[in-house]
Amino acid sequence: MTGEPLVLGIESSCDETGVGLVRGCTLLGDDVASSVDQHVRFGGVVPEVASRAHLEALPATMDRALGRAGVTLRDVDAIAVTAGPGLAGALLVGVSAAKAYALALDKPLYGVNHLVGHVAVDQLEHGPLPKPVVALLVSGGHTSLLLVRDLATDVRLLGETVDDAAGEAYDKVARLLGLGYPGGPRIDGAAREAVGASLRFPRGKWGDGTYDFSFSGLKTAVARWTEDAEAQGSPVSVPEVASAFQESVTDVLTRKAVDACRDHGVEHLVISGGVAANSRLRTLAEERAEAAGIQVRVPRPALCTDNGAMIAALGAEVVAAGLPPSALDLATDTSLPVQQVLAA
Ligand code: KG4
Ligand code: ZN
Repeated sequence: MTGEPLVLGIESSCDETGVGLVRGCTLLGDDVASSVDQHVRFGGVVPEVASRAHLEALPATMDRALGRAGVTLRDVDAIAVTAGPGLAGALLVGVSAAKAYALALDKPLYGVNHLVGHVAVDQLEHGPLPKPVVALLVSGGHTSLLLVRDLATDVRLLGETVDDAAGEAYDKVARLLGLGYPGGPRIDGAAREAVGASLRFPRGKWGDGTYDFSFSGLKTAVARWTEDAEAQGSPVSVPEVASAFQESVTDVLTRKAVDACRDHGVEHLVISGGVAANSRLRTLAEERAEAAGIQVRVPRPALCTDNGAMIAALGAEVVAAGLPPSALDLATDTSLPVQQVLAA
């Protein structure tokens, strides 16, 4: 195991500053600093605030990750960093730091794709991913279905959201219901208290023959329903609305993910991204996958949300595949397509 290169991963695409150290499929140690508290009063991530927070948090996050892994910077063999997609200023902080480390340590630099990192991270918990695997990626910024034949060299986009991301829908509906930010865990919790299941909201792009998703119509339907209820003076049961909203989201996500596996003859599904922490999504995915003879892998919640270990995990794959390192003038790409595992 010690024969495998030690890869340092740096993540700064949104509001989490993450550093991780990985050898092969083994996570040696990591640390994450979040600026989420600084965004709460705005109800969403403020890019400039996030960039500043990365700059302030990175050195200490690096020290803690190295300490937990029991290694020093001199032991590092390669450096991987999120080159995109993400917020422009936030990405720039991580990429600039990674370039400085690469130059100072004289080690190769790899600018990698954040979205593929969300898939690669599962290897740190469950061992090497089967090939091929279908990945359902559900976060605050993205909702995609991927067909992954090889993490480093063959990632295909099967479908994605045409409007809001699943996590974004959770956050917006939570705000509407007065549950606060971030909305996902709060709606998840509220839904568990629902007693009735009479309310039903529409399912976006249901049965349209694509692997695409749409959540903005659902958000509007929830808003209209609560407005109407209030106008009529009838009490709104937050748990019931949260539960009906969550059923609509998780029903479409799991249905399309299982369809994608079946249509492509793939027996393994991996679910990742912040929304993969959702209890209903996990249960429903397992039920439906089991009925279809498909095995589901979901990393533990701390690995599902943004972190540095996922970038190191993907970096380790890229190094093992023998792909050429990025140049030191590597640019960030706020909309790096998922098929591009390594930034140009
Ligand atoms: O992957 P992530 O940490 O950051 C992005 O790359 O976006 O995902 C954050 C998103 C937020 O929208 C948050 O509300 C959602 O994940 N989330 C959840 C849950 N926990 C976090 N959504 C539904 N249920 C949860 N339990
Ligand atoms: Zn993410």
